[in-house]
Amino acid sequence: MHKILDLYPKLTYLSENELDLSKFTAVAIPVFPGEKIELSKTKFLTVVSNFTKLDLNIELSNWPDFTAKPGEIIEVPISVGSLTRIYLVGIGDESDDDLRKASTSIGRKIKGTNCVLLSALATEKEKVITQGVAFILSNYQYSLKSEQKEKKPTFVIYGDYEDEVEHAEILAAAVWKARNLIHTPSNIKNPEWLAKQATAMVSNAKDSDLSITVKSGRALKEFGGLLAVGNSSPNPGPRLIEVSYAPKGSSNWPHVVLVGKGITFDTGGVSLKRPYDTMIGMKSDMAGASAVLCATVAMSKIKPKVKVTALLMAAENALSGTSQRPSDVIKHFGGTTVEVLNTDAEGRLVLADGLAYADLELEPDYLVDVATLTGAATLGLGRQYAAMYTREKAVAKKLYEVGSKVGEKVWHMPLVDDYSVALASDVADFNHLADKFGFSAGSVTAALFLEKFVGDRNWIHLDIAGTGRSEVDAGENIKGGTGFGVRLLIEWLGSF
Ligand code: BES
Ligand code: MN
Ligand code: ZN
Repeated sequence: MHKILDLYPKLTYLSENELDLSKFTAVAIPVFPGEKIELSKTKFLTVVSNFTKLDLNIELSNWPDFTAKPGEIIEVPISVGSLTRIYLVGIGDESDDDLRKASTSIGRKIKGTNCVLLSALATEKEKVITQGVAFILSNYQYSLKSEQKEKKPTFVIYGDYEDEVEHAEILAAAVWKARNLIHTPSNIKNPEWLAKQATAMVSNAKDSDLSITVKSGRALKEFGGLLAVGNSSPNPGPRLIEVSYAPKGSSNWPHVVLVGKGITFDTGGVSLKRPYDTMIGMKSDMAGASAVLCATVAMSKIKPKVKVTALLMAAENALSGTSQRPSDVIKHFGGTTVEVLNTDAEGRLVLADGLAYADLELEPDYLVDVATLTGAATLGLGRQYAAMYTREKAVAKKLYEVGSKVGEKVWHMPLVDDYSVALASDVADFNHLADKFGFSAGSVTAALFLEKFVGDRNWIHLDIAGTGRSEVDAGENIKGGTGFGVRLLIEWLGSF
């Protein structure tokens, strides 16, 4: 198999007193919308004008239809030294969303080139982070083609932004890694592969605050959900991957346990997915696990005062002679019995074990699960917002705010108690399908099922079935895995 090329672009900054345009191939200048669109008279603009002998406001006036909406670009060709382009970039109202749009449109413009871009698009510290992350992610690519282009751009942000650039790197590198895991085809990635990747990430971090243990075989005997799903693919079988960030003294700090759905491929099992082409995207059914993994490993660069344990519930949901059957009854960690009615509702089975294990063994102050759980979440909210279920209003508000800032938005959904009767079973404590009495609301009833396993913990469930994958190649995403949840979790955990 060909190695995946490292197209991760370079991101850096340039102090104002070092401004020298001769090193760059392109510059980006922001344009703000308004009645009269003209460039703000900054020191940067003066330097560019002097260097190029161009009046950029005259260039701008050649484009009367230009509205400076976010992402709209005027490309001014030029040839002065190595400088070949001046990009006048519409910046909208400079909100995080608008700046992300502007930055990704310029990032995409120079994707796959050796361009060295000096950008003056962000004018304040917080925005530099948004911009830097957007630049990098807009250049994401995953390719196993036998011939590959190695060109990648360099982004230089104008201003003294050492800390902000460093923080942007932490976020973007973590998302990038998560995307690589998600994009890896399932003939390469199985639960054992995922465990090896996690082990390598932990050892590469060279930080004694991080550790990892992997359970397999007999060590999983109490994890009836993980086994029932994962034994459909007995070679190499399911894994529970436990990664923890626990600095010295952290035993008194709040403990956050993150549980990630790590289905390395979801065929649906015996209840085979139909129509069949809905299966093609299912290599990304471990997006929750990759998000919790990459966020937890990133803690070693941020060092917040919070203890974090990530539980990656890794299994393949295959169709085979050892697949579970609709009507099977399984016993989860902690003893709860569940009647399995549709083997394609496998995510909640592996999560139930992870949540129960966390509740009974790990004493979490916050218990968060992240999962590509239901198609219904996508029906309800589309691909821009993840469905968030929790009874903790303050946490919900916090996650909403953090998500809006970093571009991983969550929407607080109701845990409708009246629907919980849908979980009744004649033979077991519950049925997992939760579609009795036809309430619909498949994302809500799945959440109600999960809640049965969290005890009295402060629990937050993020259904990322919609946001975990992009159907289009646009903005920060390419078609496929987005890495949703990585930035949200890093920033939330970093705020403790
Ligand atoms: N992995 C799927 C959910 C999914 C669907 C994620 C589409 C991303 C895009 C999950 O395991 C599943 O199959 N869910 C079923 C549940 C149903 C059988 C109750 C679904 O949503 O159809
Ligand atoms: Mn499924
Ligand atoms: Zn699934």
